[in-house]
Amino acid sequence: MKILVTGGLGFIGSHTVVALQQKGYEVVIIDDLSNASVDVVQGIKAITGVQPTFYQIDLREKQAVFDFFEQHTDLAGVIHFAASKAVGESMAKPLLYYENNFFSLINVLSALQHYGIKKFLFSSSCTVYGQGEVMPITEEESIKSALSPYGNTKQVGEEIIVDLAKVFPLQAVLLRYFNPIGAHESGHIGESPLGVPYNLIPYITQTAVGIREYLSIYGQDYDTPDGTCVRDYIHVVDLADAHVRAMEYLIQEKNQQQVEAFNVGNGQGYSVLELLHSFERVSGLKINYKIVERRPGDVDKAWANTDKIQRVLGWKPTKTLDDMLASAWKWEQKSRNNNN
Ligand code: UFG
Repeated sequence: MKILVTGGLGFIGSHTVVALQQKGYEVVIIDDLSNASVDVVQGIKAITGVQPTFYQIDLREKQAVFDFFEQHTDLAGVIHFAASKAVGESMAKPLLYYENNFFSLINVLSALQHYGIKKFLFSSSCTVYGQGEVMPITEEESIKSALSPYGNTKQVGEEIIVDLAKVFPLQAVLLRYFNPIGAHESGHIGESPLGVPYNLIPYITQTAVGIREYLSIYGQDYDTPDGTCVRDYIHVVDLADAHVRAMEYLIQEKNQQQVEAFNVGNGQGYSVLELLHSFERVSGLKINYKIVERRPGDVDKAWANTDKIQRVLGWKPTKTLDDMLASAWKWEQKSRNNNN
């Protein structure tokens, strides 16, 4: 069976391609390379022995999207990762986020409707909950105003999918990720943001190798035990497995509703300082840091209740925080060695 993975050379996309190939799926990737390198194709092949077919397409270009689907009418399903993804950056560049995330989603969904392809996984986020009131957050948590344009694109993206499902027999799963980190244990693929990283883990690992002078911790006056923000960190390999299970759930027509949402997290919250100290323990290094102003758009805490995905998809996290940090550190060191 052939699956299209948009954004398949990105961080979560590439790990999901590996997991799909390891389950015997044929994978076709679309990526515009705006935040990924074409070398990831070789990283995937090094792990699975299979080179995925890759198309460099900007999904904002409707004609290009339709040209692709015209040549791939036999897709069993589509996993849509391609999007801009940093909360902080979205505050500075709101229109970029609305343009990238909405145009791409609408063009892909238009093609699904036109070509009658029904199985669809959407890369959503716990940012749809805004500041959740009760921890851990369940899927029943009310959707409140998003605190960032990024979060808003995920909220409205979910609504667009729900609306399309009213007029087209779409079968969709919305996976609401908490904070994906880590890297494949092989060291062949990982998180490689282009330019200065917006996310915490690549910033820490780049500080550890000396590319960045110090980590800025955004605020120590939040309503959390040590004052820094609390997040639920999930290993990207566990997250990739959740995608394979969700796609199989749709393919085997086990879904009860046309559109279903699942949280994907570890179910445990760690503060920025706790994470930093765990990284220092795992790597044996001291990381310079400074406490700075809060970053606009950040919620103070978010961690997941994952009962639903465990019950319905039989998925559960298998990796510890140390596994996540050790694999991210291994990947950073390996990619630096390859670049030197
Ligand atoms: N942080 C710092 N310094 C940095 C970077 C981040 O202190 O240099 C802090 C942030 O303030 C936040 C935490 O580290 O408290 C995590 O920040 P990230 O930028 O790594 O992650 P976010 O929680 O902002 O967002 C991430 C993904 C989103 C996803 C979201 C779900 O980027 O795509 O998790 O929570 F939707």
